[in-house]
Amino acid sequence: MGVDRKRCKHLVWVWGPLTVLALSSMLVIAQRLNLKRKPDVQNGKQVFNSGCNTCHGPTGKGAAETSTVFKRPSTFPDFTDCGGTTPEADSQWKGVIVHGGPYKGFSTIMPTFGQVLSQNDIDDVISYLRTFCTQRGWPRGELNLPRAIATEKAFPENELVLTTAANATGAPTWETHAIHEQAFGKRDQIEIDVPWNLEDINHSYSSHIGDMTIGLKHVMFSNLRTGSILSLQGGVLPPTGSTKLGGAGTTVFEPFAAFDQLWRTNTWVQFQMGADLPADTKKSPQGLFWYTALGQTIAPDQRLGRQWSPMVEFLANRNLVDGAKTDWDVLPEMQVTLSPRQHIRADVGVRTPFTDTAGRHPQVQFYILWDWADGKFWEGW
Ligand code: HEC
Repeated sequence: MGVDRKRCKHLVWVWGPLTVLALSSMLVIAQRLNLKRKPDVQNGKQVFNSGCNTCHGPTGKGAAETSTVFKRPSTFPDFTDCGGTTPEADSQWKGVIVHGGPYKGFSTIMPTFGQVLSQNDIDDVISYLRTFCTQRGWPRGELNLPRAIATEKAFPENELVLTTAANATGAPTWETHAIHEQAFGKRDQIEIDVPWNLEDINHSYSSHIGDMTIGLKHVMFSNLRTGSILSLQGGVLPPTGSTKLGGAGTTVFEPFAAFDQLWRTNTWVQFQMGADLPADTKKSPQGLFWYTALGQTIAPDQRLGRQWSPMVEFLANRNLVDGAKTDWDVLPEMQVTLSPRQHIRADVGVRTPFTDTAGRHPQVQFYILWDWADGKFWEGW
């Protein structure tokens, strides 16, 4: 009987995620992200040569500074630089082309073309801009979905995140993480996460560092046409935190897979599945986690304006010890882009345990994120 139940649980853990993956890949095949009409690159080239190359130059690197009257802003684009252009979504560029530089917090030198060019011309010139990057294999910024509070995304990022979880009931505790993520090469990212806890222990506040994480992420697969991206990450948590205060007391290895799927309705789902594997299992148990974030991004002005992303996360954690239960939490939240350039974002949500709730408190969670590759914190407003 006991054995049967165990086997049954294993089946759920292994086949549950696989079924979801299989189902979503079926949905993937059924769609094409770039909708309506196929852009006409030749027309885009003509538009570019008549309206853009005086400033952006025939090669897309920028016209010779002797021939332009303006001083180049530090963010002036070099369209041949794949590392700089592929993380930008078409909608980001379209906002600038339709409404001019200031719409996304850029220079007024970049004119407004919304009155001069048709929607089709603008889509075509964007598709021509894309031809300046001639390397393949860079994941496209459209697949950089809004960051969820707990579920890690698949896209390699350049960002700094400050995130805090505060107990809503019980003894006050604040767990804050400073997370630095930096992309390198076409498909890799390094991550450093330093947690810092402040808690009320017997009516006196104690502040201490937790176990930090150093992680390396690699994109295994990404496809703009189907809207999917898959990454693997290997993480190491050296025991920097005190064992008396929740630290593992042993180095923990944390491998995970992240798979994100975007649909053309701007609905998306992000899956993350991984394990915590301590070097010394006597000090800390092995565990599995399985996170899902389901959300929708809404933006006014035909998706060019401020982005609001309501989402809900379903979070499962399970220790691999006899008699352990799976802890399920649900976390509804809202992310919003604060700066017009969308490089500063905030997210707030409430995480509520709904199984095995003894000793687990609801938490208010919040983060602020700065995508530093898109400009300084105070720029782009
Ligand atoms: C008068 C000069 C000028 C013309 C003409 C011009 N641009 Fe620009 N453009 C700029 C400048 C300057 C910037 C950089 C703004 C900044 O970084 O603050 C820029 C930035 C951009 C960006 C980058 C936005 C980003 O997210 O980094 C895009 C895309 C762009 N231009 C497209 C076009 C297209 C397409 C045309 C023609 C239809 C065009 N530009 C015509 C000067 C010009």
